[in-house]
Amino acid sequence: MNRVDFEFFSSCIIVLVIFVNINVNAIGVKKFLSLSFEEKSALDKFRARVAPLLDDNCMRHDTYLVRWLRARNFDIHAAEVMLRENLKWRKDQKVENTRNEDFSDLKQDFHLTLDTYDKIGQPIGVIDLYEWDMRRAVLQGKSPRLVRYIMALVENITGQVCERQQKGMNVTQVMVLLNADGINVVQQACPICMPLWIQFITSVENYYPEWIDEFIIVDSSPAVQIILNVIRPFFSRNTRNAIKVFGHNRKNWMTYLDNKISRSERRKEYGGIKPPFRF
Ligand SMILES: *[C@@H]1O[C@H](CO)[C@@H](O)[C@H](O)[C@H]1NC(C)=O
Ligand SMILES: *[C@@H]1O[C@H](CO)[C@@H](O)[C@H](O)[C@H]1NC(C)=O
Repeated sequence: MNRVDFEFFSSCIIVLVIFVNINVNAIGVKKFLSLSFEEKSALDKFRARVAPLLDDNCMRHDTYLVRWLRARNFDIHAAEVMLRENLKWRKDQKVENTRNEDFSDLKQDFHLTLDTYDKIGQPIGVIDLYEWDMRRAVLQGKSPRLVRYIMALVENITGQVCERQQKGMNVTQVMVLLNADGINVVQQACPICMPLWIQFITSVENYYPEWIDEFIIVDSSPAVQIILNVIRPFFSRNTRNAIKVFGHNRKNWMTYLDNKISRSERRKEYGGIKPPFRF
């Protein structure tokens, strides 16, 4: 190896080492709750104000309260309004019931799994988006049901975080991993599909703020860009920053995923060895 090659090689290693360190340490309760003095005192005041509204252990967790504050730039009043609206929405929509509702009609056609975890134990919603015929769902009038199904899945994954926190795990957020191979302009990026996309995003942003640690898309294509361009304005800053898009260069996304999620947790489409899910 000549000198130039060697230098290039060692700087790659240094970059890689830094990259690995950042990624492994970047998440968890500690980071999520690393607050400035002002933010910490806002959290104490916020807790005192909303305490009577919090009726389970998950809600009393600091990480639960911090989400509303973060979503409203630590404006205590605005965060309280947001939280109250959320609790009202949960009651009106009977969100707790989604646990027991039967979505077997949708599960087959809209594949999404919630049994994958990253290296620090964050649950991952894995979406095989190429399976999702959004156009047909819209034409068949299934949009509202599809939105409710998504809500049930979001309830499940956020509930998993809560369960993990109760066990003392350092988990605060969730990941989304999406394989976009085969996505096309007819089934997923069609004009009549866009309102449904926007509805998914606005529901999640309004009712589940600050939950997404990373939103990783692999095997992206021009159709994905069309969708992203339309929905981007509806993302919060947190989500916009969380989105990572990889194209078809498998080597790039394999390195990235290997660093975050072990291969035994990933299914074949994501370069892993986990057995297929039976829908
Ligand atoms: C999530 O769904 C799985 C499979 O249906 C279920 O076993 C689990 O209890 C659910 N978890 C939560 C927190 O709802
Ligand atoms: C969680 O993180 C804290 C430090 O932030 C550490 O002391 C503790 O061992 C971690 N717990 C688990 C279960 O990883």
